[in-house]
Amino acid sequence: MRTLIKNGTIVTASDIYRADILIENEKIIALEAETTVDADEITDASGMLIFPGAIDVHTHLDMPFGGTVTADDFTSGTIAAAAGGTTCIVDYALQTPGKFLQEALEDWHKKAEGKCAIDYGFHVAVTDLNESVLAEIPLLVEEGYPSFKLFMAYKGVFQVDDATLLKVLKQSGDAGGLVLVHAENGDVIDLLTREMLAAGHVEPLYHALSRPPQAEEEAVNRFITMIELSESPGYVVHLSDAGALGRVAESRVRGLPVYAETCPQYLFLDLDRYSEPDFGGAKYVMSPPLREAGNEDFLWSGLASGSLQVVASDHCSFNLKGQKDLGESDFTKIPNGAPGVETRVQLLYAEGVEGGRIGINKFVDLVSTAPARLFGLYPQKGTIAVGSDADLIIFDPEAEFTISQSSQYQNVDYNPYEGFKGRGVPQKVYSRGSLIFENNKYTGKPGHGRFQKRKSFSTFSAY
Ligand code: URP
Ligand code: ZN
Ligand code: ZN
Repeated sequence: MRTLIKNGTIVTASDIYRADILIENEKIIALEAETTVDADEITDASGMLIFPGAIDVHTHLDMPFGGTVTADDFTSGTIAAAAGGTTCIVDYALQTPGKFLQEALEDWHKKAEGKCAIDYGFHVAVTDLNESVLAEIPLLVEEGYPSFKLFMAYKGVFQVDDATLLKVLKQSGDAGGLVLVHAENGDVIDLLTREMLAAGHVEPLYHALSRPPQAEEEAVNRFITMIELSESPGYVVHLSDAGALGRVAESRVRGLPVYAETCPQYLFLDLDRYSEPDFGGAKYVMSPPLREAGNEDFLWSGLASGSLQVVASDHCSFNLKGQKDLGESDFTKIPNGAPGVETRVQLLYAEGVEGGRIGINKFVDLVSTAPARLFGLYPQKGTIAVGSDADLIIFDPEAEFTISQSSQYQNVDYNPYEGFKGRGVPQKVYSRGSLIFENNKYTGKPGHGRFQKRKSFSTFSAY
């Protein structure tokens, strides 16, 4: 089957140009101006921008957390992703203490198998290290899992100590892997949390106040020290704070292999949200928490300047009713996380490109190309080129949107961006040449999504 997309404007991380796109057997086979070749299906993309399918390297689907399980599984989460222009996710498989990393991957493969609307890969989160688990790392890099996550927070649950962090960094670096961290000082947070509860502060706002920006900045700085000691690359997930960003920027000026992502919630929402009435602040209970208004300007500058390389969603949805309300009388019992896989691309385009904060090529880089390069998917994904997968967004830059829970594909009872308006909407989305989303409707089949074995990390292909 041959598909021809005519008259669109192709935008990659480096170029903007007019060309027709010819697709065959899931791949782009030609990019030519005004081609006359024949095809089984011809689509007119006049007036449209064509972006490479977006890649979200931070999702949590079907994940147990805080005594419950995320509201989105691999079907609803990946359909929502497709609706928002995302054609590949990398989700986190969590090691159960006492078990092997390979077992976590087997569990997560079972959760995803036959359910995904788009392609997917897995990072592995290491929560309980011993010599046998350490020995798994090079094998997993070989098998297509070149990224390992460690938590510096969530004391007593996922948190690891500094020796574990350093050991994994060394082993991963030697094997061609990349270490990812949740960077917050879990011991400091644990103490502040206990102090707040003892003083009778149980509302959602105290989730944020018990996790101050300094706790993030300190952990990021400690991680950078470990990167320097181990001479291995590392990546900070969901960076939220200007001070922490300063540490990353400075380390990069010193030539260290330090990378970082931020997320839309830290660009669009702030601390005031925790004061929403009727327990509404629980919608925003996530870690790190939302920061003071004004902090987001530093993050936007970090994106524009290259100190931050990726915007990912950290999609981790819990319903307000039946899940978040587990913590109605104690903020520590509110499951941490918020939805965002569906809205990431649109929000970033509307405020970033339309709002003049970043250029259009930088936008493509942040949502697609940089994640592909850093996480071993490039050039199969993350760009529009002959030989690449035909993962494409046909994007209408004039169409307007209003975000609403009532029209979302995310399977959760709220949307943190309710009422946000903007311009720029995915009109059609292709995954390996199949049209999976068109005119606000999912047109694909769950199970179409295929597991992606990723390549090892290389500083030559990274940023
Ligand atoms: O609050 C968050 N971010 N929940 C998801 C788990 C994590 O820490 O990434
Ligand atoms: Zn985290
Ligand atoms: Zn996360």
